[in-house]
Amino acid sequence: MSGVALTSAAGATAAVELDGARAEFPWASREVYLNTATEHPLGARTTRAMEEYLHALTHGPDSAREKFENGRLMVEVKGMFARLVNAKPSEIGFTPSTQTGENLVLEGLDIQASGGNVVTNDLHYGGSLVNYRNRRKSGMDVRIVKHRDYQMDMRDLEKSVNKKTKLIAIALVSNVNGYVHDVKSIGDLAHAHGAYLYCDVIQAAGAVPIDVKAMGIDFLACSAYKWLMGGRFGYLYVREDLQGTALKAKLFGGRSTETGASRYEISTVSHLGCVCQHQALQYIQSLGVERIAAHALPLVTRLMKELPAAGYRSITPAGTASPIVSFDVKDVSATRDRLKKANVVTTLSGTSGETSGGGRMRVSVSVFNNQSDVDRLIGALA
Ligand SMILES: Cc1ncc(COP(=O)(O)O)c(C=O)c1O
Repeated sequence: MSGVALTSAAGATAAVELDGARAEFPWASREVYLNTATEHPLGARTTRAMEEYLHALTHGPDSAREKFENGRLMVEVKGMFARLVNAKPSEIGFTPSTQTGENLVLEGLDIQASGGNVVTNDLHYGGSLVNYRNRRKSGMDVRIVKHRDYQMDMRDLEKSVNKKTKLIAIALVSNVNGYVHDVKSIGDLAHAHGAYLYCDVIQAAGAVPIDVKAMGIDFLACSAYKWLMGGRFGYLYVREDLQGTALKAKLFGGRSTETGASRYEISTVSHLGCVCQHQALQYIQSLGVERIAAHALPLVTRLMKELPAAGYRSITPAGTASPIVSFDVKDVSATRDRLKKANVVTTLSGTSGETSGGGRMRVSVSVFNNQSDVDRLIGALA
């Protein structure tokens, strides 16, 4: 099996305190919010900036908008995101969402017209799998590799890739169980067959370190509303030498440029999202993604150790270096009741009790969570 696990024992146990993070997110003091994998609460500083902008939009004068609706803000946001993933700013385009980014990649590679295939897996996002199944119906050769015990086995991936493969598409961190794919090996496999690697990083950007160069990522996309802490728009990374050559721009509009990854942009970007991201990315930078990841690790490590003893089997591989951990739930309604009583929020899916096979609980921890949140969850379920 291959995945990315943290090998440092010190990293797994040492508590990293992120000063002031709890106060920055007032939501955290109203309920035990262990659900950032769905959506991150807004930070106080991002809200202040957006309120100022909304005030200008509501009351004018028009000149007040200049502070927010300007190219400088967008350039800075692009620059900060580029730094976060070790790309050049010219390799980043704005996009409305992760899935829009993935569609732009699928369209721009001319996969179907060239008789090529695309390989993905069932730890990818459900919405992306809807996309792939629809493309399969329209004639595209789509191969969906199955996980083994909630991990990706490279041998299974290797069996599906051949010289006609144009793209391997995966989620760097799976939303299903937080599994971190070994993207370096997957990228090497793609490149050895003349194919490219696309990574959906919405469950990774801002939470785990990303280095597109070291990881061999050719394209990536994400939205900002999860680990990037808000703003409903997204980013598309396209490796410089693939822009306009391997990856053609197929949709055009007022923001499409002749050069750089902005060639894949179409419409006006959300200024409100940009104002939010301008603050949020500065905040993430000030904490440092390595420290954010190190903060999460002891929390998820404890959950993975203690919840199975209470009857919740973990479906996240041991040692997974992400802030997301998922569990099988035998009795969903009883679990839902207990969590509600304890004022704890997770992602709980599935409908009823033991007879229907139960459901699943996904727990995710961000910068504002602490061991007392974990105590509350374990206390509610143990
Ligand atoms: C892995 C993954 N990809 C994509 C999405 C959806 O992204 P977007 O709304 O930006 O298209 C989600 C949302 O939960 C997700 O978890």
